[in-house]
Amino acid sequence: MDASVSISGTTGTARLDSGTTTVVFHWTDGIPVIVHLGAKLPEDVDLGILVSALVRPTPQASLDETAPISLLPEFSRGFMGHPGLIAHRAEDAPSAWAGRFTFTRYDATDTGITFYCRDPYRGLDLCITFSLDPQTNVLTFQNELVNSSDRSLLVDWFAAPVVPVPSRLTEYLSFHGRWCAEFALERMTVPVGLTKKENRRGRTSHEGFPGIVLLGENTSEDSGPCLAAHLGWSGNHRMVLERLPSGEMQLQMGALHFAGELLLRPGDSLKTPELYVTASSDGLSAMSQAFHEEIRRKILKFPDPQKPRPVTVNTWEALYFDHGWDKMTQLVDSAVDVGAERFVLDDGWFKNRDSDRAGLGDWFADEEKYPDGLDPLIDYVTKNGLEFGLWVEPEMVNPDSDLYRTHPDWVLGLADYPNPLSRNQLVLDLTNDDVTQYLYDCLEKLLTDHAIGYLKWDMNRDLVMPGNREGRAAAHKQTLALYALLDRIRAAFPHVEIESCASGGGRIDMEILKRTHRFWTSDSNDPVERARIQSGFSFFFPPEVMGAHIGPAWSHTSGRGFLPGFRGLVAGVGHLGLELDLGSTTEREFPDMRHAVERYKADRHIWHGGNFYRLPSIDPALIGFASVSKDKNQARACVVQIDRPRSTVPALVRIPGLNPDVQYHVVMDDPDDLLDRANRGFNNQLASGHLVVSGAVLTQVGLQLPVLYAQTGLYLTINKSEIT
Ligand code: GLA
Repeated sequence: MDASVSISGTTGTARLDSGTTTVVFHWTDGIPVIVHLGAKLPEDVDLGILVSALVRPTPQASLDETAPISLLPEFSRGFMGHPGLIAHRAEDAPSAWAGRFTFTRYDATDTGITFYCRDPYRGLDLCITFSLDPQTNVLTFQNELVNSSDRSLLVDWFAAPVVPVPSRLTEYLSFHGRWCAEFALERMTVPVGLTKKENRRGRTSHEGFPGIVLLGENTSEDSGPCLAAHLGWSGNHRMVLERLPSGEMQLQMGALHFAGELLLRPGDSLKTPELYVTASSDGLSAMSQAFHEEIRRKILKFPDPQKPRPVTVNTWEALYFDHGWDKMTQLVDSAVDVGAERFVLDDGWFKNRDSDRAGLGDWFADEEKYPDGLDPLIDYVTKNGLEFGLWVEPEMVNPDSDLYRTHPDWVLGLADYPNPLSRNQLVLDLTNDDVTQYLYDCLEKLLTDHAIGYLKWDMNRDLVMPGNREGRAAAHKQTLALYALLDRIRAAFPHVEIESCASGGGRIDMEILKRTHRFWTSDSNDPVERARIQSGFSFFFPPEVMGAHIGPAWSHTSGRGFLPGFRGLVAGVGHLGLELDLGSTTEREFPDMRHAVERYKADRHIWHGGNFYRLPSIDPALIGFASVSKDKNQARACVVQIDRPRSTVPALVRIPGLNPDVQYHVVMDDPDDLLDRANRGFNNQLASGHLVVSGAVLTQVGLQLPVLYAQTGLYLTINKSEIT
């Protein structure tokens, strides 16, 4: 498992290995190159021979020595594609736009390697770090640049270590979207030339999640090669995918800086965000499982790792800003009745917050709604056996607030320029220590004075012209300051869990997840939209951090209505919550809610700890998920028909990841009781409740499901059978 390095003269090779993956590096005098990143190679492969066998020919009409895609490609070496570093002197120094690094040394550990390079022309030091987790098969890449000269440097672009993409991965999945439609996927052919994706919204954004999957033409959920990359960074970002005329492909990802934003003074250093990369030879679900394991083992830090993810009732779509004592306590009563374990008081609790026009910044309980403060409600919640959680949006301020009236200069913006409002709010300048101290003090008081176990930390405005007090663009530092504030809160209140929300899923990435415990995946509780969003989300993140709520019968974001069983099915795949006025649900609906909660409680250990699969499906309107316990004795699957089926009878649905030699008992639950209407007959053993079949059949042949009405679904309980 160790990094193995061999040196001969000025030439070096090194390899890192995990259970499924090998990375091979090669260097001579310049920045090292990745010569292989993919399937595991036998231990006895001679790396010297491998490197010499891969030497590329010199084509006609080219430079005598063509530059490779190094870990930071340089135009000074003749690399004609997008360079990895674009920087220049702040002061007049005409030659400092170029530069050329030479290899100096490396450090290797059991699971990682660091390369050091130096640019003598500009006085820069570069440190390139890799680690490969032997268990998760995920690589972490990071670059650091140190300005060792006596003059300042402006950095326009500094990529994390650059990934050379194997040329057989001719297609890619792009993740984009909008509010209420996060993680929308598009599968495209990688075009010749440069494809650039940029985000300037100051959060990961709904529109451009910082992740990509490259895949072969025939790669599917359960077969074929793919390589995925995700930038752990919650701010502005850029991705460059370039297919060069030579046929080679490079992938660059890094933080995006506004003009003049990143000034490296003498002695300063700059680290890129961490880039997480994984390669799979067995299709997309295996690739996702690698990220899920990386998160479970290394990223997530639950205060109590043994605690199951609690069923949450959230007040937003139940009560909005209408917080009366009676309504609130009735909702708590219904929460208890339905089986909830956590109660989250959403927006509307603080001073003058009767609409989204006022109050942000004044983090004190509204005296009219809460004349005796928050404690009476918190006591009511906790005495009823629920944990209490509170919504906050610390980075924001409404102009109509005491905070803004006192400190109008505390916001990001540029003097003399109009500062556009979004949801009537502006963004506080977290790079100003007075601001973060104020926010810390407010949060510290709330968390010290009250029994609060959970914060829903929201962020509802894009950053527009985020200038700081000096007028310099400060989006990058704002993101770092947010991390520092979260770290301070986490250190002082380690028992408090935090949810990352940004108008739904506008801030979802690995770096924020190091400091938080749940994502609010989307403001859409419409289960049809949700099934798609959750499918996209699952490419990178596991179900236990996927906040998923049963919303009201009529969805306020899409204007559509849905049956309760269907809503419960889709939400039950993640970290379940309920976000509706439970007291006014119909008599028929409430037992369905309770059923969804009971099923979730019984099965959450399988969804939150197993191997997650998106079920292969030839009908785009049929979306399915499964989770298989690590010992393969249990599996759960959820199949939803989001629209009218493509064929009169559904195609067989395969359940991947089971033990082929084990017999499984498969039981089907139809939570909206519509199968008798949707099928003239379904004389199948599955319907009888007595289907016992081998894992080999379930995985390789598949299950015949009944016809499903549009916007209904099925839940499958698959347990190792005692009958052999
Ligand atoms: C954002 C969040 C919602 C809710 C509202 C409250 O839109 O995404 O879940 O908290 O704010 O204003």
